[in-house]
Amino acid sequence: MSIRKDPETGLITLHTAHTSYQLWADELGIVHHLYYGPSIGEADLRGLEFRSDCGFSPQPAGLDAQRDYSLDTLCQEYTGSGVGDYRIGCLRLTAADGSRAADLRFAGAEILPGKYELPGLPAAFDNGGECETLRLTLKDPVTGLTVVLLYGVYHDADVITRAALVENGGSAAIQLDKAASACLDLPFGEWELIHFHGRHCMERQPERTPLAHAIQTLRSARGASSHQHNPFAILAAPHTTEDAGECLGAMLVYSGNFKIECEVSQMHSTRLVAGISDDDFRWTLAPGEQFVTPEVLFSYSAKGLSQLSWQYHHFLQHNIIRSVWRDHPRPILINNWEATYMDFDAQRIWDIARQAKELGVEMLVLDDGWFGSRVDDRSGLGDWQFNEKKLGCTFNELIGKIREMGLLFGLWIEPEMVSPNAELYKAHPEWALTIPGRAPTTGRSQLVLDMGRPDVVDYLYGLFHQLLADHDISYIKWDMNRNMTDVFSRLLPTERQGEAAHRYMLGLYDLLGRLTRDFPEVLFEGCAGGGGRFDAGILAYCPQIWCSDDTDPIHRIKIQYGTSFGYPPAAMGSHVSASPNHQTGRSTLLSTRSTVAMAGTFGYELDLQRLTEDEKDEVRCHIQQCKEIQPLVLNGRYDRLTDAMTDTCFTAWQFTAQDQSRAMVSVVVIDPQANPWPIHVRLKGLDPSALYHETLTDHTYTGAALCHAGLTLPIMQGDYPAVQIMIERIDAV
Ligand code: DGJ
Repeated sequence: MSIRKDPETGLITLHTAHTSYQLWADELGIVHHLYYGPSIGEADLRGLEFRSDCGFSPQPAGLDAQRDYSLDTLCQEYTGSGVGDYRIGCLRLTAADGSRAADLRFAGAEILPGKYELPGLPAAFDNGGECETLRLTLKDPVTGLTVVLLYGVYHDADVITRAALVENGGSAAIQLDKAASACLDLPFGEWELIHFHGRHCMERQPERTPLAHAIQTLRSARGASSHQHNPFAILAAPHTTEDAGECLGAMLVYSGNFKIECEVSQMHSTRLVAGISDDDFRWTLAPGEQFVTPEVLFSYSAKGLSQLSWQYHHFLQHNIIRSVWRDHPRPILINNWEATYMDFDAQRIWDIARQAKELGVEMLVLDDGWFGSRVDDRSGLGDWQFNEKKLGCTFNELIGKIREMGLLFGLWIEPEMVSPNAELYKAHPEWALTIPGRAPTTGRSQLVLDMGRPDVVDYLYGLFHQLLADHDISYIKWDMNRNMTDVFSRLLPTERQGEAAHRYMLGLYDLLGRLTRDFPEVLFEGCAGGGGRFDAGILAYCPQIWCSDDTDPIHRIKIQYGTSFGYPPAAMGSHVSASPNHQTGRSTLLSTRSTVAMAGTFGYELDLQRLTEDEKDEVRCHIQQCKEIQPLVLNGRYDRLTDAMTDTCFTAWQFTAQDQSRAMVSVVVIDPQANPWPIHVRLKGLDPSALYHETLTDHTYTGAALCHAGLTLPIMQGDYPAVQIMIERIDAV
């Protein structure tokens, strides 16, 4: 049993393999958060709670004399609103009479086997006996508002999921102005915030800042989780490193507007609140209606950041990603985007495919530009008919020839968008997010479809279902190339316009859910101008996401490094592109590009016909090597051996088989030195007593020697040289 409720005290403790989480509803019904950290067994931690008569922190009604009891200073599981807690809150609302308060009090707890589901939203699932659910019901006696707090306790995975269901149990409509998924109120400790910021072509750059007595907010208001901020945050104790120290993560399973807010309070407790962003959000909850918040995945590690990353990697791979592809090596693909952009016909695609096949590639992906009037990025989105005139053949002829070559066929689509000059927009201008009387803002010359409309989702479903049913398509790259503006739905009444952005996400998930259920064998890759929607919500449908539009390997090292804190390498789309690189103009060796791309789902994104014969031979070898190491990338343990942000000379990482039988160490020199210092790496996670052969110097060492003494690499100079070292266990000593 992972969840224990003490029948006498009512104390509830959630147990995972290495952590405990404790909460308690007092006699007033306030649910206190007592602890989240390393396992504490059955200890009752109520005595640790700090109470003091804190000036200007008010008392709940009826507790006038008890000056040391204030919602403003207590650590709580979820906060109400307007009744004395001035810190960042979970809930804001407007009741029928205009009042803005909710005083949430405990109304019951249930422990249930298995994992709860969240209607309309992606959420972690249970593969059988992995999870136990706690349902805590809180009620506001005046408005009738009920908040059900859901906790999914994954014992072995060391993950606790949380979400909230907000229900209107009253007789009048309530406006929800904020409904967070969860609050984590840490009573003690100094914490630093690690978050992942960025921009298009440079996503998920880790930044670590101390928390202050102020509010720090990570958020997206873009209608997508965004390139700029990722819905994942880590709180780490000040000296926590990869291998030691305390840290905990909060990851939203959501792909739209979000907020993760952190505040160190006047009493020095730390509050983290995560959920849908309340900016521009307002949801009308009629009597009897329920609002479902997205899920947050919490995980805690007392053994440093690497351990936390492995917990997330494992959990996302096993409890979020549903695709049958999650355990299978993904086909090595050639994508024509950087080879041709939109300037291609069928012959050009076939030539690229033929060359790719000859080198060992397994799938051709036809990117943007195959449909409607799409000759550049100003037109055509929404008119999803194959452009026979441009391509010079029918769709089936195009695919047929590629299949005859022995390649799988994959296709790029961008279902959520429409070009203003598209036939679809002419027929249904009301289907786009635009504001009456206001000329719409465009992004990449396109408008965003109102995915909150069931008619739009049904239309897109019919269209793409047919496309997949009628054609031999093994892979879909689902792109989304602009952020939302003019967020106004022609279907919603005035008072419900604040719902449009979240309704969009519900529509998107509905569409993704239906198509991925109908075509389980199709490999879906998420994409949003690269990694603009790289989150656990998308991973619930797409086992991999195109990591970034920046394919420069030296930049990719940092992008993939930052991404790896929360997300598994197997989920990162990563391709070898041309040199000089199209985004940065930098020249790099083919072997370096290949080394970096092999730390994700591998593919090519260049015209392979332009390579020299020697380079083609190299590609053949890389593909062979990639196939050999694919199981390591899919299921192995990933270690960051250096800090890609601060170690300026070289970066190294390692994949290790779960059974410690083999490993691969990759090293890339990012700043070649004159008169260099040695490049020295210490390996991780090998069996100390086993004997391993390493391919760098063709020597054998014990795991202990490789992990403690490490390996010294030869001098590496030139255009960012890279090396991959294979480590194979040969015997036990
Ligand atoms: C953005 C994607 O990230 C690229 O890979 C490519 O598919 C373009 N869109 C096509 O428009």
